Amino acid sequence: MNNGIVDSSLATIGDTPMVRLQRIVPDGAAQVIVKLEAGNPTGSYKDRMALAIIEEAEHRGDLKPGQRVVEYSGGSTGSSLAYVCAVKGYPCTIISSDTFSEEKIRTMRAFGADVVLVPSNGGLITPDLFDRMRDVLDGIVETEGAYWTDQFHNTDALIGYDALGQEMLRQTERSGIVIDAFCAAVGTAGMLAGVSRTLKAALPDVVVTALEPTTSPMLSAGHAGPHHVEGIATGIVPSLLPADLYDRVLTVDEAVARELAAPLTREEGIFAGTSSAFNIAGALRIAQELGPGHTVATVACDSGLKYLAGDLYRT
Ligand SMILES: Cc1ncc(COP(=O)(O)O)c(C=O)c1O
Repeated sequence: MNNGIVDSSLATIGDTPMVRLQRIVPDGAAQVIVKLEAGNPTGSYKDRMALAIIEEAEHRGDLKPGQRVVEYSGGSTGSSLAYVCAVKGYPCTIISSDTFSEEKIRTMRAFGADVVLVPSNGGLITPDLFDRMRDVLDGIVETEGAYWTDQFHNTDALIGYDALGQEMLRQTERSGIVIDAFCAAVGTAGMLAGVSRTLKAALPDVVVTALEPTTSPMLSAGHAGPHHVEGIATGIVPSLLPADLYDRVLTVDEAVARELAAPLTREEGIFAGTSSAFNIAGALRIAQELGPGHTVATVACDSGLKYLAGDLYRT
């Protein structure tokens, strides 16, 4: 951790804390440790991905000074790309839709991105919406020569998440513990894949679990369904997650994860969003399976602040 003055806010990405849960872990379970990613500049681990994707493209010469960057996104990725582009001076266009959260769209605009909103069918997220967003994106690539970051297929993202895995290894080593299991839900799967490949290189016995909503068991049962956990289980098998980077899949009941948000906040002081609570719900299940003397690690992706307008904290 560099505690001196840094010359760019980009240098403040990463080096996030890791906390051991104290009060919500049932007796007889393994310890659960959580990497808290809300301290990143836009409040989410996606900043790691955005910086890696932009800098790798710069190094290859795929992204030229002043070239426009374009992506389609419902939220966190768009915010992180808008942020990195703002600091580095690239114009940025994010294709989004009125169905995604107003806060996230405003965040992209706050960082100076042009946001193109493609109208949804009455607020629903439907496959044709993504087709129409993609058409707008293709038009911008063609007419403006923009660089498409292609978050669902871009393996540069994993480089950003390798650092997350390295930090976890250093933090656990300093505390004299070894990670037995790591789990997380997947959207693009960039985070799970990057962390998994780093942990598995150092800890060959670590068991990595991909989590998915019970109602959308794409990895475990091959079919998608509805759910309300932003950013995960997008209805595809993510191409960034090869079979050797996860050992098992666990389905988690979204309602159980949502109910965890209040005790996480009030008893542990961890202000979680829906996907963070989901990851921790999965980690608690695995901790009960493993029992005392073991360590389960997961990630709190962002902050509950991003979810105050939704129904997660509407009591
Ligand atoms: C809030 C949130 N949580 C979790 C994820 C999943 O992360 P990944 O795409 O690395 O699998 C995303 C991805 O967009 C997200 O926005």
